[in-house]
Amino acid sequence: MRSIVVRGGKRLAGRVSVEGAKNSALKLMAAALMAPGTSRITNVPDIADVDIMAEVLTGLGVTVSRSDHSLEIDASGITSVEAPYEMVAKMRASTAVLGPLVSRIGEANVAMPGGCNIGSRKIDMHIRGLEQLGVDIVLGHGYIHASAKDGLRGADITLDFPSVGATENILMAAVLAEGRTTLENAAREPEIQDLASFLVSMGASVDGAGTPVIVVDGVEALHPCEHRVIGDRVEAGTYLVAGALGGGPVAVEGFDPHHLDMVLSKLEQAGCTVDRRADGVTVALDGRAQCVDIQTLPYPGFPTDMQAQFMALLAIADGSCVITENVFENRFMFADELVRMGADIRIESHHALIKGVSQLSGAPVRSPDLRAGAALVLAGLAADGETEVGEMHHIERGYERFVEKLVGLGADISVVESDTPEGA
Ligand code: EPZ
Repeated sequence: MRSIVVRGGKRLAGRVSVEGAKNSALKLMAAALMAPGTSRITNVPDIADVDIMAEVLTGLGVTVSRSDHSLEIDASGITSVEAPYEMVAKMRASTAVLGPLVSRIGEANVAMPGGCNIGSRKIDMHIRGLEQLGVDIVLGHGYIHASAKDGLRGADITLDFPSVGATENILMAAVLAEGRTTLENAAREPEIQDLASFLVSMGASVDGAGTPVIVVDGVEALHPCEHRVIGDRVEAGTYLVAGALGGGPVAVEGFDPHHLDMVLSKLEQAGCTVDRRADGVTVALDGRAQCVDIQTLPYPGFPTDMQAQFMALLAIADGSCVITENVFENRFMFADELVRMGADIRIESHHALIKGVSQLSGAPVRSPDLRAGAALVLAGLAADGETEVGEMHHIERGYERFVEKLVGLGADISVVESDTPEGA
C-alpha cells in the first residue's frame, strides 16, 4: 500500500494551478457518447477516475485517445450498451452513461451502483426522471435494464432533491427526446452548467442550466464538438485550506472564484485574507483560524466536497463550532481519524461538534474516501510531528500530482510504500 507521509509545521506559500474539474470531465466523457464522430475535450485532469471512465467507454465500443490533458473520443460506432458491475463498482459515476445510451441507442444495461463510505448513493431520482421521459426500466440481478424502443418524449419533471447525478442523466436523456422537457428543482452546480454548454456545442437546445429550472427542447441528432473543462473548484478549495493551515500567502489559479463563493466567505469569516482575481484566489492566515459554523448544501450552498477539508481547519481553530452535513448521510467517517490526531470532535447525527484545540499531533491514519484523504493530509500539514495517511489510491482518484503540488508550496511530504496491502 502506498501512503503519504507529512511532517507538519512548515510554512506554505507560493502558487499552485488546478486541473479541469473531475466532476465535470467524467460527465462530458459520457455525453460524448451521444454524437457519432470524434469529440475533443481539453483541460482533462490526469486522475484515476478519468482512466476508469475511459475504460467504461471503450467497453461500449468507443475509442478514447489521450494526449497530455486532452481526450479525443470517437463515438462513431457503439457496440455495447452495458456498463458492467466491475466498472460501476469501481466508480459509481459510470452510471452517467445511462442517459446518453438510452438517448442515442434506446437501450442501456448499467449495474446498480453500490453504496460507498459516504452514503447509500441511491439513484431513484435518476430512474424516476428517465421513466417520465418514456424509458422502461426493469431492475434485476443488480442491473438497471433501460429501454426506449419508441424513443423518448419530453416531460415536466420535478426532482425531490437537487441531485447532481440525476440532473445530469435526465438532461442528457432529454436533449434527444421529442418535444420540451422542463426540469424543476434541478442541481445548479458549475459542473451542470459546464455539461449544458458542452451539449449546446453538440447542437442541443438547453436553457436555464445553473438555475433551478432547466428547459430542454429535443433535437433530432447531436454532432461532435470541442470543449475545455472548467477548473476544479474542489481541488482549488483544497489548496486554499492548505494555504490557511500553512499560513500562506498561497495563490491558487486556474478556476473561477465565483464557483467557490461560499467557501471563500467562510475562509474570510475564519479570519483569512482572501484576494479574488479573474482566474484564481490568494489566501493567507496569520495566527489561528476562528471557529465558524458550516452547513453543507447543494450549490450555491457550502459544498459537501469541501466539508472534510474545512473540518481539518476548524479542528485547530479558536473556539467551538458545528458542521452540519445535509447532503450525504454518512460523511463524518474520517472525524474519528482527526480525533486520533488529538482533535476534539463529537458526532451527533448529522452534526459534528468541534472544539478547537491548539495543535493536532501527527499519527498514522487512513483515508476512507477521496476528500477525507486529502483532508487528513491537510491536517498533517499543521500537526506536530509525522502523519502517515494510508490508502493513498483514494486521493489519486481525484487529485492530480497532489503530493508534488504540496511540495511546490513548501510542504515536507512524500510517498512511501508499505507492505500492508490496499484495503487491508
Ligand atoms: C456528485 O455526486 C459528485 N460526484 C459528488 O462528489 C458530490 O459530493 C455530489 O455530487 C454532491 O455535490 C460526481 O460528480 C462524480 P447527488 P452525486 O446525486 O451525483 C441522494 C467527490 O468527492 N440521492 O447530488 O452522486 C444521494 O444519496 C464526489 O468528488 C438520492 O437519494 O450526488 C445523496 O445523499 C463525492 N437519490 C444526495 O442525494 C438519487 O437518485 C446527493 O447526491 C440521487 C441522489
